[in-house]
Amino acid sequence: MLSLLAIIIIFISNNFTIISASSRLQFNQINSESDTAYTNFINSSCQVTKYADLCYQTLAPYAATIHINSLELANAALTVSLKSAKSTSKVVRELSKGRDLSMRDGQAVADCLENMSDSVDEMKKSMAEMKDLDGPEFDDKMGNVKTWVSAALTDEDTCMDGFEDNDGKMKETIRGYILKVAELTSIALSLITNISST
Ligand SMILES: *[C@@H]1O[C@H](CO)[C@@H](O)[C@H](O)[C@H]1NC(C)=O
Ligand SMILES: *[C@@H]1O[C@H](CO)[C@@H](O)[C@H](O)[C@H]1NC(C)=O
Ligand SMILES: *[C@@H]1O[C@H](CO)[C@@H](O)[C@H](O)[C@H]1NC(C)=O
Repeated sequence: MLSLLAIIIIFISNNFTIISASSRLQFNQINSESDTAYTNFINSSCQVTKYADLCYQTLAPYAATIHINSLELANAALTVSLKSAKSTSKVVRELSKGRDLSMRDGQAVADCLENMSDSVDEMKKSMAEMKDLDGPEFDDKMGNVKTWVSAALTDEDTCMDGFEDNDGKMKETIRGYILKVAELTSIALSLITNISST
């Protein structure tokens, strides 16, 4: 009698495990279906940018917050670009420290850091504006964001131009870093332009 009861208990608890395992499986399936929808949205939106691969690669990690929202997508792109501009400025500053730079190189680095700092400010301003888009001034505000992000991109280009005439390894290194930031900013600008024109 006792062993029959034990068998029944084992049977019930086994069944329970199976049921809960299968419902968990279903839940995971639903989750992965929406994940695919989210990453597909990011991928197709990225096709309007000049750097579709870099766009997808840097923004797919934000799928859980972007879902299928183009404003969230643009916001994530700005976040990524701003972070990259900040960390790049730091790297450029470190690179130029403790080196015997020629006067011309030193001036190019100083100008570049100035331009990058402007670029960071413009992107910060843009992100603040994008947090407050409700209301009738949506188009004006998006227009501001577009202007500022475009100015940020110009600043980054200007920084790279400063190294055009300078030969050497440092020029190449710094250009490489800034180029990456400029690509990320260009992606953000395209995604923002895409919103304001739809
Ligand atoms: C993104 O979209 C492009 C063009 O439609 C496609 O070729 C590519 O395989 C897609 N990539 C991913 C990761 O979905
Ligand atoms: C904006 O992007 C969507 C895809 O995400 C595309 O269907 C639409 O045509 C784009 N609009 C413009 C104006 O580029
Ligand atoms: C970049 O910085 C330099 C030095 O401060 C400045 O002369 C130049 O106008 C800046 N360029 C832009 C586009 O702001």
